[in-house]
Amino acid sequence: MKALRLIFGAVFVAASIGVCAAEQPVSSANGMAVARSNACMGCHAIDRKLVGPSFQQIAEKYKGQPQASVQLEKKVKNGGAGVWGPIPMPSHPRMNDADIKTVVAWVLAGAPEK
Ligand code: HEC
Repeated sequence: MKALRLIFGAVFVAASIGVCAAEQPVSSANGMAVARSNACMGCHAIDRKLVGPSFQQIAEKYKGQPQASVQLEKKVKNGGAGVWGPIPMPSHPRMNDADIKTVVAWVLAGAPEK
C-alpha cells in the first residue's frame, strides 16, 4: 500500500506542477529580463520588426496554437530560418531550458511590459 501511495503522491505532484506551469500568469518582468540579458532585444523589439519579427507579431501568429511553445523553445535553442524570411535566428545553446521557457511564454503572451 505504501508504494501505491507513493505513486499517487508522485502523480499528484507531477500533475500539480503541470497545472501551475500552464496556469501561472506569465511574469513579464522575468520574461523581459531574460530577453534583455540574452541579447534577444538586439534583433527583436516588442512592437516593431528589427532583424527578427516583433514579439507581438510572433504572439499574433501563434495565437491559439498550444503546441507553439514547445516548437518555439526548440527554435530559440537551436536557431533556424524560413518562417519569417531568409534571415536566420542564431542558436542559443547556453541558455538554460527554464529561461527559454520563461521567455517564450512571455513572447507568446504578447510580450507585456508590465
Ligand atoms: C541575431 C538576431 C537574433 C537574435 C539575437 C535573436 N533572434 Fe529571434 N529571430 C531572429 C530572426 C531573423 C527570426 C526569424 C527566423 C525565421 O524566419 O524562421 C527570429 C525568430 C524568433 C522567434 C519566432 C520563431 C518562429 O519560428 O516563428 C522567436 C520566438 C524568437 N525569435 C525569440 C528569440 C529570443 C527569445 C531570443 C533571445 C534568446 C532571440 N529570438 C534572439 C533573429 C534573432
